[in-house]
Amino acid sequence: STRIVVLISGSGSNLQAIIDHCQSGDIQGDIVSVISNKADAFGLTRAERANIPTQVLSHKEFDSREAYDEQLAKIIDSCNPDLVVLAGFMRILTPSLVQKFKGKMLNIHPSLLPKYQGLNTHQRAIDANDEYHGASVHFVTEELDGGPVVVQAKVPILPNDTADVLAQRVHKQEHVIYPLVVKWFSEHRLTMEADYAVFDNDPLPAQGVD
Ligand code: GAR
Repeated sequence: STRIVVLISGSGSNLQAIIDHCQSGDIQGDIVSVISNKADAFGLTRAERANIPTQVLSHKEFDSREAYDEQLAKIIDSCNPDLVVLAGFMRILTPSLVQKFKGKMLNIHPSLLPKYQGLNTHQRAIDANDEYHGASVHFVTEELDGGPVVVQAKVPILPNDTADVLAQRVHKQEHVIYPLVVKWFSEHRLTMEADYAVFDNDPLPAQGVD
C-alpha cells in the first residue's frame, strides 16, 4: 500500500477527502503523517480524529526558507513516503526540496492552470469576467504552480458570484479530483516523465479469439 504524507496549512478539507477515500479502500494507501506549518490548522484535528500521526513544523522558527525546507525534507524522509501530497500547503518550496521528491509530489491549485498561478485566484477569475474557473491537480516541479497538470475540474462562474461562493463551488470539485489522482498514483498508473504527466489506463490484455 502507498505511503502518503500530506502537507497542510489550513482547513484540510482536501486532506479529509483523501482520508475518506483511504478509509473506504478506494485509495490503496495509508496516510502515514500529516505535516502542518501552522499549529492551529484545523486539518491537524481532522488527522487526529482519523488516528493519523501529525507533526507541526513552524516556519517562524527558521531564519531562511532553505533552513526550513531542509528540516521539512528530513521529516518527510523519515516517513519514507511513496507520495507527498500538498493540500493547501501555503508555502513556496525551495528547488532542492522539489528536486528531492520529483515525480512523487502532487499539488492542487484553485484555478484552471496555467491561468492564475499564485494567490487570490477566485477573485481574479471573477474580475476578469471569465466564464469558467476551476482547480488543477499537478505534479510539483521547480516552476511555481507550473508542473504538469494531471486533471482539471471546471466550474461555471455565475452572475453575482463572490469569491467565497465561487471558492466553495471549486472546493466541491477539488474533493472529487484530488482523491481520484491519488488513487491513480497509488495504483501505479500515473507517473511524471520529463515534464509530462503520463496516465496508463491499463487496458485489458488482448483476449485470444477462437
Ligand atoms: C484549496 O482550495 C487549494 O486548492 C488551495 O488551498 C485550499 C486548501 O483548502 N491551494 C492553494 O491555493 C495552493 N497555492 P483545504 O485546506 O480545505 O484543503
